[in-house]
Amino acid sequence: MPDKKHLRGMCDMSTPFRIGIAGLGTVGAGVVRIIRKNAELLEKRAGRPIEIVAVAAKDRKRDRGVDLSGFDWVEKAGDMATRKDIDAVIEVIGGSEGVAADLVRASLENGKHVVTANKALLAHHGYELAQLADEKGVCLMYEAAVAGGVPIIKALREGLAANEIKSIYGILNGTCNYILTTMRQTGRNFDDVLKEAQAAGYAEADPAFDIDGIDAAHKLCILAAIGFGVKPDFDALNIEGIRHINSTDIAYATEFGYRIKLLGIARRENGKILQVMEPCLVPIESPMGIIDDVYNAVYVEGDFVETPLLTGKGAGQGPTASSVVADIIDLARGHRLPAFGIPARDLKDAVWADPGETMNSYYLRLMVIDKAGVIADVSAILRDKNISIEGLVQRGRAPGQPVPVIITTHETRHADMMEACDLIEKLDCCVEKPRVMCIEEL
Ligand code: HSE
Repeated sequence: MPDKKHLRGMCDMSTPFRIGIAGLGTVGAGVVRIIRKNAELLEKRAGRPIEIVAVAAKDRKRDRGVDLSGFDWVEKAGDMATRKDIDAVIEVIGGSEGVAADLVRASLENGKHVVTANKALLAHHGYELAQLADEKGVCLMYEAAVAGGVPIIKALREGLAANEIKSIYGILNGTCNYILTTMRQTGRNFDDVLKEAQAAGYAEADPAFDIDGIDAAHKLCILAAIGFGVKPDFDALNIEGIRHINSTDIAYATEFGYRIKLLGIARRENGKILQVMEPCLVPIESPMGIIDDVYNAVYVEGDFVETPLLTGKGAGQGPTASSVVADIIDLARGHRLPAFGIPARDLKDAVWADPGETMNSYYLRLMVIDKAGVIADVSAILRDKNISIEGLVQRGRAPGQPVPVIITTHETRHADMMEACDLIEKLDCCVEKPRVMCIEEL
């Protein structure tokens, strides 16, 4: 039974829909810009004017390139939660704890709808907040939290609601995709390209959130909750970032017909749900292989819809603010639905699959001394772990010096692959930690 509170659609369409915006960084300023520029269009679509009543930001004086006149400046963002002249609080401050989290809780508690772009908050506290929203009969909206301008929340929560979801694959971090694409296209190194992404305004305040896969994992965990009707559980995610990927990997992946992508995978496996975020090799011409630069993409497998792919810019002011405003329009129209598509009380504790038990083909990069017997030692370890080699390449000649050796495997149990890597690393000839990535034949 759906929670009836969501069906009431209590809203007076004759009055403006009044919002308070907490945070005037890139996204907050973008929201103001859209509401100012497209006011007439938004009014037609929402059926009523959208009115910014109040704004809050740390620095009042900073020029944000938008007209902020006529809005009430609120000293403490938290005060928006209790204002009678605000219907929805727009939280674009960020962070899973602190001011943003307190504001979202207090706003829901006080019966206000919330629109947020805060994926960390949802990944860590989504279940509790969804419960609170249900209890108070208000909505928690977060289209902008996942894949920026790509309307994947709406698609998964509504457009694909007829389907049992089998799997979700996502390229969910624009910064990582930009770095990997630029490294491939220019041959430049990782640190150099990261700096460029940060300067372009795509990166998180803490770059580790992007390059270590945390930001993308927050988003995957939200998608898995909607897709599989489970409580978001960030701690259940296996996460690996892209710091260790070098130009050798990128060149060999291309040679083998693959692209390297930081890929989020959430899929049903033998009655359990697998949830991992890791760099993978995907075929160049596959739905994920063709997604480059700052673009994000989500590929869903449903039992009736088959395999829709949504793609677009996953970061930046315009795309992210566009998604925030879409949520505001939905609320102004009176559209109501539970945060994760079903009442929070029906969200299940997922039974997570053990990534160690998954079967995959692998790409393995070794740096080993160029001398007799090395390949024999390595292949003996692989043989003992029942790992079948599909391809092996060593180019160049450097007797007594380290050279890269690239191996691809047939389907192998993940745990066996990891154990083999540990043993290879202990060989005297091995001068670097072996690097291993899944090959996902999407
Ligand atoms: N830093 C994120 C990215 C954008 O690079 O995709 C906001 O989630």
